[in-house]
Amino acid sequence: MEPVLSRRTHPVSSPTGHRLATRHERRVIRSADPRLGLLVALARRGPRIVRAPGLGWLVRDPALIRELLVDHRSTSLLGEGGVGHLWSQVLGDWVEDLFDGRGHHSLRTRARDLFTEAAARDLVSVAAGPVTELLRRRLRDGDTVDVADLAKVLVGRLVVAMLGLDATTLADEAAIAGLDDDGWGAYRLVFARGEELAALALGTQADTTLSDPTVARARELLGGLTSGVPAAYRSSPVTTVLGRCRELGVTEQEATGLASLLLVAGTETAASAIARTTALLADTGQASRLCAATGDERDDLLDVAVREGLRVTTPAPVIGRHVTRDVTVGGRTLRAGDRVLALTYVANTAPGALDLDRPYLPDNRHLWFGAGRHLCLGAPVARAELRAVLGALADAGPWAVVEREPARRVLIPTYRRLVVARG
Ligand code: HEM
Repeated sequence: MEPVLSRRTHPVSSPTGHRLATRHERRVIRSADPRLGLLVALARRGPRIVRAPGLGWLVRDPALIRELLVDHRSTSLLGEGGVGHLWSQVLGDWVEDLFDGRGHHSLRTRARDLFTEAAARDLVSVAAGPVTELLRRRLRDGDTVDVADLAKVLVGRLVVAMLGLDATTLADEAAIAGLDDDGWGAYRLVFARGEELAALALGTQADTTLSDPTVARARELLGGLTSGVPAAYRSSPVTTVLGRCRELGVTEQEATGLASLLLVAGTETAASAIARTTALLADTGQASRLCAATGDERDDLLDVAVREGLRVTTPAPVIGRHVTRDVTVGGRTLRAGDRVLALTYVANTAPGALDLDRPYLPDNRHLWFGAGRHLCLGAPVARAELRAVLGALADAGPWAVVEREPARRVLIPTYRRLVVARG
């Protein structure tokens, strides 16, 4: 798809802005994967739950999705259709227990305090500080900023900090790959590798069995990214995530499995939410309202902007599950061995466009982070990252999108470039 360039300022009238925002979002989804675009478009008009040949059960209703995700006796993320099936092919069968067996329960119990709101705020403020500072300065100086790029740097910085990666070695590799022109190449490299890793799962909506070359490449990428984890686990101070893992009684092998998960689950998703929410606020004409607010009103609006941004972008648009025993949902009987695609993007965007006046939606609450025992472990981190960037934009804005290009062939829909300027 051709790069989409737009030089218009943000619209004034709300309905026009909402239409513009929706059009750009559709392009982002289609560009990531045209099949996803089609699935979303068809599911919007289809029944709440329906069986689709070759895909399995498609569920677009938020209440039914939640019902399935919390029913751990009837659904699993292991087995054909679930993300655990992908992981066990890459990391080995040992991760099955860790990702959805007794080991998972035990790990989640010990890791409960890994990302408290306070720990997440601390972690993010260190990683985001230099990025948001640059963002504020450039906008105030009248320069343009590529928010999609800064979002990658931010999440890359978090991963380096969380996994104890060696930023110096990465910087050398980034320079060779031509990524280092401002000292942040190492972080872009981490993101690019995570993105490549996740893209290996493209097309698994119909079948989660990976080919041998795909498994080999995934192992190579993961091996490179997590090779420093054992050493960092043993020696990192308790102020770091791996040091805290050790203190919380998470074993070294568990920490390595968790590190792989954090790397894939927590990078593209957060960067997508940051870039797309930045665009949505400008496109719908609501950036100026956020910028004009001060004090408590600004804080409250930022809370809503984060929640609405996560709802409307729903960066993990589909959650897959394997049905482990016959179960009736929404009047339909799902049989053991079937697969389910929970269409969270369709469910969460049904109430309408991003709206800073939209009240809390009980049916959709946190569904962008999943539900049940796999509810996103890094949700406080993701919220803090998005809030840090929106807060910086609000300080320096209002902003308008002056150039954009959706990312192509990626697992998590996002912008490859999103250039904003004060305006
Ligand atoms: C906007 C950003 C994010 C979104 C939309 C998101 C979404 C999700 C969703 C939907 C799941 C559940 C998947 C399933 O049920 O199969 C999940 C799981 C997970 N997420 Fe996130 N995530 C985000 C950011 C993060 C971050 C920043 C981290 C880590 C710092 C993280 C770590 C995890 C982990 C470890 C799991 C697996 C939990 C388990 O299986 O028990 N995520 N995420």
